[in-house]
Amino acid sequence: MTETAQPADLLEKPRLFYEKLKEPFVGRDEEALTIVLALLSGEHVIIIGEPGTAKSALARRAALLLNAKFFKYLLTRFTEPSELFGPLDINALRKGLYKRITSNKLPDAEIAFLDEIFNANSAILNSLLSILQERVLYDGYSEIKVPLWSLVSASNRIPDEPELDALYDRLLFRHIVKPVPEELWEKLLDRSWMIEKGVFEDVKPVMSSSDLLSLNKLIFQVDLTSVKQSLLRLFAILEDNGMHLTDRRKGKTLKAIAAYALFNGRMKARTEDLFVLKYIAPRDAEDFDKINNILLEELRTPDKILVELDEIDHNVELIKKEVGRLKSFDPKLVEIYRSLKAARRRVAMISRTSDDSRVTNKVDVLINKIDDLLDEVTNKLGM
Ligand SMILES: Nc1ncnc2c1ncn2[C@@H]1O[C@H](COP(=O)(O)OP(=O)(O)OP(=O)(O)O)[C@@H](O)[C@H]1O
Ligand SMILES: [Mg+2]
Repeated sequence: MTETAQPADLLEKPRLFYEKLKEPFVGRDEEALTIVLALLSGEHVIIIGEPGTAKSALARRAALLLNAKFFKYLLTRFTEPSELFGPLDINALRKGLYKRITSNKLPDAEIAFLDEIFNANSAILNSLLSILQERVLYDGYSEIKVPLWSLVSASNRIPDEPELDALYDRLLFRHIVKPVPEELWEKLLDRSWMIEKGVFEDVKPVMSSSDLLSLNKLIFQVDLTSVKQSLLRLFAILEDNGMHLTDRRKGKTLKAIAAYALFNGRMKARTEDLFVLKYIAPRDAEDFDKINNILLEELRTPDKILVELDEIDHNVELIKKEVGRLKSFDPKLVEIYRSLKAARRRVAMISRTSDDSRVTNKVDVLINKIDDLLDEVTNKLGM
C-alpha cells in the first residue's frame, strides 16, 4: 500500500486531533503530542506534573475528540478492584461461578484514563499489569480479553517504589508537564476565562477507534531503514548517560518512531523522528532534563550534516593540494592514504543517517572526489 492509496483525510486525522486537543490550553503541545503518539501506536502514556497543570483536562478533551469506548477513574490507595474491573456477579456466584460485570468498566474500554495511577494498590496492580501488556484480565478462574487500545494516565509524581517499576515500564510515552512560564501568564488568564465560559466545549469526535486501527496498520509500513543504525548508536549514548531503556522499551522504539513519522505526514522515517525518544528514554526526574540536550547534540538535521560534509570537503581539498606537491614514493603519502580512507568511511557512514537529497548529492560528489584522490595517491606510491 502506498501513501497515495490512503484516503487523505485518514492521514490528516491525527494532526487534526492534535490541533483540537491542545486548542484550549496554553503551552500543552508536547502533552497533546504524546497522547496522539500513544493512540497511533496503541501504547500507553503517562503525564506527570504538579496539580492544576491541565493533565485531567487534556484527558477529558481527548475523550471528547475520540469516538471510542472510554473509561476514566481517579485512583486512591483504597480503590477496590471492583471499582475498576466491575462488581462480582452475585447471580453467577450463587451458581458457583466467579464472574465480574465488566460493562462500562475498564475491561470494557478501548481508551482509558487513570488519574493518579501510581496509587494502584497490590490488588489492582497485578490485574492492571496484564491488561496493559497482554490486553487480558486474569480474574479468579476466568481470563477476559479486553479491547483496551491505549491508557492515558496521570500522576503528580514519578514512582520510586520497586513494586511500581513494572507498571511505569509499561507506560511507553512519558512526559513531565511544567507550569506555564511567566511570559505566558496573561495568555493563561485569557484562555482560562474562555475555558470557564465554555468556548471550547462544543467539540465533536475527529477520530474513531477504527481510524486508529487503520492508522496503526500504516505505521508498520513506514520505511525505517535509514534510522535504524542511528537508533542503535543512540541507545549506546543514552546508556552512557545513565539512561537505561528496558528491553521492552527498546523494542517498542521503532513503533514510536514510525508513529511520529506518520504523524509528520511521511511513510519514511528520518533522523529527526528519533526525537520521539525524548518521551521514551527518561525514567528519573533528572533524565527528563538531560534528554533534550543529548538528542539535540546527537540527532543531526540535514543542515548540520551538510556543515560536517563541507568541513570534510575542505580538508580533502587541502590534501589534494598537498598530494599535488609531493613527489612519488614520499612516505607522507602513506599517511595521506590512511586519512583519505578514514574520511571516505566517515562520509559513507554519514550517508546512511540521512536521505535528504542535498546530503546524498553532496555525499556522491565527495566520495568521487576522495576516490579520484586515492587513485592519485596509489599511483604515486606505485601500488
Ligand atoms: N496550560 C493551561 N492552559 C489553560 N488552562 C489551564 C492550563 N493549565 C491548567 N488550566 C486550567 O486549570 C484547570 C485544572 O486543570 P486540571 O484539573 O486538568 O489539572 P490537573 O493537572 O489534572 O491537576 P491535578 O493533578 O490536581 O489533578 C483546567 O480545567 C484548566 O481550565
Ligand atoms: Mg487531575
